[in-house]
Amino acid sequence: MKSAFVLSSSFSLLLSLASAQSYDATICGEDRFGEFSDPHVYLPNAWNDNSPDDGYVCMSVDNSTPAFDVTWMWPENIADVHSYPYVRLNDDDLPTRLSTIQSMRIKSDWIMTLGSPRSPPRDFSNSTWAENKEELDEAGVTANAAWDFFLDGNRTRTYNPVDSAIEVMIWLGRVGHARPLEGDGVVTRITLGDHTFQLHYQLNFRSRHVFTWILADGGDVTQFDEDVSPLFEYILNNPPPESDDEDAAEWPENPYLGLVEFGSETWFSRENVTFSVANFALDLEVDEDAADSGSDGGSGGSGGDDEDDAAMALGVPFLGFVAPVALLAGAMIGL
Ligand SMILES: *[C@@H]1O[C@H](CO)[C@@H](O)[C@H](O)[C@H]1NC(C)=O
Ligand SMILES: *[C@@H]1O[C@H](CO)[C@@H](O)[C@H](O)[C@H]1NC(C)=O
Ligand SMILES: *[C@@H]1O[C@H](CO)[C@@H](O)[C@H](O)[C@H]1NC(C)=O
Repeated sequence: MKSAFVLSSSFSLLLSLASAQSYDATICGEDRFGEFSDPHVYLPNAWNDNSPDDGYVCMSVDNSTPAFDVTWMWPENIADVHSYPYVRLNDDDLPTRLSTIQSMRIKSDWIMTLGSPRSPPRDFSNSTWAENKEELDEAGVTANAAWDFFLDGNRTRTYNPVDSAIEVMIWLGRVGHARPLEGDGVVTRITLGDHTFQLHYQLNFRSRHVFTWILADGGDVTQFDEDVSPLFEYILNNPPPESDDEDAAEWPENPYLGLVEFGSETWFSRENVTFSVANFALDLEVDEDAADSGSDGGSGGSGGDDEDDAAMALGVPFLGFVAPVALLAGAMIGL
């Protein structure tokens, strides 16, 4: 029995070494793993200059599974997001006009764990999440798990998360005081599979249009796999009312979708938090004919000068600012 015990513990040691070795890289702060044209690009994205020096965000990437584990700690509440560690998912059809999208299936398994687990957490079950969430809540952690999308009438600008006219988020979970920009309340509800999402709309402090879909029952979904195109179709067909804000970004009639990202907005934790994500995917189907004919004059639909501009917009210095700037948690003021 004893030897069996020794065997199994050295086996688990081997396993954890093996999984530790399966990372391609660990990157921190404002680093990046992958080229912008790769199917997956990983960024810890510590964009906020107001973050305390004793905080950090590091990301270990396993690009073949694919999976990543982020360890972060931001021990100061600045009533703002410190970082949005994320994977950007590319597709050859992006950017594409929203009106050409026939389906957009997004998939992600995620979990958060208090501390720094010895081996990468890959149990995304509801029961494990319920336990972990209780620990995170008790420790006062505030964070979410969210998909983030950027849209604009100008194709190039869809790669610019600060200047693009529209940001759409789909929140899959949250702990602590994480709240979206809630605007005047619930705009509508849409059910996808087993999950009903409710929509909030508000201009952010840069007067960009921010739409947030969150689960209507207040729950979290750690294993998500749905066609979310109805959520975008609603926004396309139901533009927001005119705003009194003179600086409000002009509403694009026929917007393009560019950036597609999944990550965690990190507000606050005194201890390490590990955000683990696996099996993420983007499966986009567009109406190619509409996409080709939809480029109403000027530079063509796919290819041409636009691509160069898009590449430039993705320059590294700029990405220092990659910001779900929308996410000022008004609610954090109560912390
Ligand atoms: C917290 O995470 C950092 C960075 O990964 C690590 O160096 C440190 O040992 C961790 N602290 C604890 C208490 O696990
Ligand atoms: C589109 O956006 C890019 C980057 O912001 C800008 O350089 C370009 O002039 C814009 N094009 C039009 C037609 O407004
Ligand atoms: C896990 O929780 C989600 C959200 O509450 C729910 O939709 C799903 O059915 C649950 N899954 C299982 C296996 O219980």
